[in-house]
Parts: sequence; C-alpha cells; structure tokens
Amino acid sequence: MSKVTIVGAGNVGATVANVVAQKEIASELVVLDIKEGVSEGKAMDMMQTAALLEFDTRITGVTSDYAATAGSDVVVVTSGIPRKPGMTREDLIGVNAGIVQGVTQNILKHSPKAVIIVISNPMDTMTYLTLKSSGLPKNQIIGMGGILDSSRFKYYLSQALGATATDIEGTVIGGHGDTTMIPLKRFATYKGLPISELLNAEALDKAVANTMVGGATLTGLLGTSAWYAPGAAGATLVEAIVRDQKKILPCCVSLNGEYGQKDICIGVPVVIGKSGWEKIVDYKLNSDEQALFNKSADAVRNMNQVLADMKLV
Ligand code: 2OP
Repeated sequence: MSKVTIVGAGNVGATVANVVAQKEIASELVVLDIKEGVSEGKAMDMMQTAALLEFDTRITGVTSDYAATAGSDVVVVTSGIPRKPGMTREDLIGVNAGIVQGVTQNILKHSPKAVIIVISNPMDTMTYLTLKSSGLPKNQIIGMGGILDSSRFKYYLSQALGATATDIEGTVIGGHGDTTMIPLKRFATYKGLPISELLNAEALDKAVANTMVGGATLTGLLGTSAWYAPGAAGATLVEAIVRDQKKILPCCVSLNGEYGQKDICIGVPVVIGKSGWEKIVDYKLNSDEQALFNKSADAVRNMNQVLADMKLV
C-alpha cells in the first residue's frame, strides 16, 4: 500500500503516472496540475486502460487541491515549463524556480515525510532549491536526471554494438546538462565485458557525445522536451523507493565532501530505498574523471548562484 503524487500532468508527469500505474508500483496515485481539467482528464483516460492492461492502481486527477495528496510516500515534481528547440535546460530557471518553490511548500503541508523526486529543469538547481527551501533531511530529496541519461547512454552503446540495451551497463554522473553530464566510458560494460575493449575510441566517443545532447536531439525532433524515457526513468526511481529495492542508481543528491564536492546537488551513484537515497557509492574516479566532475560541479554551482541572486536560497 503506497501513495504516490505526481505534480504536473504534462507529458513527463503523465508518463511517470502511466508507468507507475501499469507496473502497479503504487496503490494510490494522485496527479495534480494547475490547468483546469487536464489532470482529471488524463487520470480518467489512464483509468480507462485499467481493464485492458489489468492494473489496480487507483488514479485521481486534481487541480491544485493539495489536500488530496496528503500522506504521500513519494511526490514527483515535474512542474514548470519544458524547453523548446534551441533552449538549454538552464534557460528555464527564472520561471521554474518560483513554480518549484511554491510546489514544495504545498507538498510539505500535506506530506512532510514524503521522498521528493525533482524532475523539473534545470534539474540539479531545482533539486538544490527544493533541499534548501524545504528544510527536509537531505536523504528525502532526489533529483532525477542520471537515470535518464544513463538509459540514453545504454541506448547509444547498444546501437553501436548491435546489442540489446538490457545487456548494457552504463552510468552517467555529474550535472543533467548538455555540457555537464559525464557518461563514464570506463564503467560501461556489455554483460561484464568492458565496452572500451569492444568499441574503438571513435565509436565510444560518439556514443558519449550523442548521450550528452540526447535531450536536445529529441527537443529538436519533437518541438518540445522528451517524455517517454524521462517518464520511465522517473517511474524507475519511484519503484526503487516504494519497493525498498536498494538499487544503485545515479541520482542528483546533496554532497558533503563526497566526490570532492560540498554544498551542491549533483549526480552520483546512490543506493535507493524506502527512505530516499541511503548512501553514496564511491566509484573511485580517476584523475581525468574527477577533473570532469569538478568542472561539471562548477557549472552547476554557477547556476545555483542564480537562485541566490533571485533571493530564493
Ligand atoms: C530530458 O533530458 C526532460 O530533461 C529531460 O529530456
């Protein structure tokens, strides 16, 4: 028995909801959106698939009625505007910071014990904002970006290898930005075999480069930000929490000296369970990887400075 709330019933929020319902990850699912009728309509549409797809999750759609979200175990924040072609995730900060802060206050009133998953962009900065403005224990706040980026990395590696993505291991750490994410080539494996020994350097670098602009490529094709993979990645994180899976997933969390950084939320591998992120896993980066991580952290920190300039943290 678990209750999950998704704030924002746009493409990403609705897709998280759809996957959570279909996999019966939650018994109760509330979808909330400020646009009159949208969450009610999407909830009803999804409920009308229950008999076909055989799931028991009860989905309710509400408009700004946070009382309906009370007692949620997990709240997923997808609110805010998505990027359009030519925009970076960072371009969204001015609008999305105010929205995410307001949403956080409302969540806190009704579900102070919930684990909060932040998907709104720029995700690392929105996660930092949620941590600072909620005052919640750091383990309860998780940004979702690395799971998505890692899935895209696995996709591009599988394409290059002519293999199935499910046989690929690949992890992306660092910021969730076109220039800040770090697909870790050294840790990529194909059923245990190092991919660096299976692909030449050029092919491997191409998979890395494609991964880094994976979101932008889709925004260019779709005219708006992607949703199937972001939604599935969000649901993967919800599942790991609700089912207390103790999975190692790359997530944006608050660092206090780990990976050589502090006072920042950025992507690193963590163990996920019922109470949120439970521990940071040390991948023992080599000096090149650490240099990339430090550069990524500098960029995320610069972005966080905008929050300070806006007097939000
Ligand atoms: C993406 O990379 C939504 O930021 C998300 O597609």
